[in-house]
Amino acid sequence: MALISEGMIMAITSVTTKDKAVLVTGCSSGIGYATALTLAQRGFTVFATVRKEADAQRLHALNAPTLIPVCSLDLTKADDIDNAIAFIRQELAQRPGMGLYAIVNNAGGGGVAPIELMDLDNFRIEIEARILGPLVLLQALLPLIRAAHGRILWIATPSIIPIPYVANIHSCDFAVNCLARTLQIELKQWRIPSVLIRSGDVKTAAPAKSARELEAALQKWPRERSELYADALRKERAELSEFDTKRTEPEVIAGVICTALCAAKPRRRYQVGYMSRIAAALEYLPQTLVDRIMESRA
Ligand SMILES: NC(=O)c1ccc[n+]([C@@H]2O[C@H](COP(=O)([O-])OP(=O)(O)OC[C@H]3O[C@@H](n4cnc5c(N)ncnc54)[C@H](OP(=O)(O)O)[C@@H]3O)[C@@H](O)[C@H]2O)c1
Repeated sequence: MALISEGMIMAITSVTTKDKAVLVTGCSSGIGYATALTLAQRGFTVFATVRKEADAQRLHALNAPTLIPVCSLDLTKADDIDNAIAFIRQELAQRPGMGLYAIVNNAGGGGVAPIELMDLDNFRIEIEARILGPLVLLQALLPLIRAAHGRILWIATPSIIPIPYVANIHSCDFAVNCLARTLQIELKQWRIPSVLIRSGDVKTAAPAKSARELEAALQKWPRERSELYADALRKERAELSEFDTKRTEPEVIAGVICTALCAAKPRRRYQVGYMSRIAAALEYLPQTLVDRIMESRA
């Protein structure tokens, strides 16, 4: 006869979602949208941030009582961030006993371009969205997370290796990696885990957006310079369309995010999604060899 039932094991290994609020950024589509829905279904109260009113309406229309759209939060705009923080504090004040249990830093964009031709205004926006904006949120909301014995989650690509023509995304991933892991050390004394969700290629709107942006950029870039990268850009265009069939569904990533939030002791990192493990394995090789492998792909 089993002495411990499955239900008892779940009770020991997972946290209750009651009275726990989670802030998820970038919930208009993709991983953020799937995560907001999954967490609300699991019983969390979810502050789901979007930039456009139409996206907030779409979330409202789901009639999920614990799913609360936060609009507008553009992480490049200081006023938006201040308003979102004030909104969350106000909503929590109306729910006695509820704490802010987690921030899921998901919002981000980025696209394909050789560094020589990269649009620096877009790069600046990406840095604001992936690094500086989340840090403003973190600094303001950490006392609430500490009080709730909560955790911080970061969505990033699966590895910190140099991948050509997507440096605007991966530079941010390197920085996110550094921040997440450093926070893991700095917040250890309060047992606040800082968890990396390292995701492989996911079936979201992102590749189509990148493909459209690349086509527009090709019209803008001086032809004599973009032609220097013609072969590489042709390959990138093909990959952006081909990969969609093999990519992982965003709901799978959302499931792993939910696991990381519910585990009594979450792992420091979760690898999930198409090609994720192979990409992560490259980190264990000598980095000069990795650079050569990447050169051969460029
Ligand atoms: N797709 C993948 O293969 C993959 C793999 C690994 C990691 N990731 C990471 O996962 C995250 C989500 O990607 P996804 O594939 O789900 O993309 P997505 O469907 O394009 O969703 C991105 C979300 O971020 C929001 N966003 C972009 N810039 C923002 C800003 N400045 N302020 C606030 N929100 C902003 C978007 O809002 P709008 O709709 O208003 O633009 C959207 O809600 C990204 O950080 C991405 O780097 C994706």
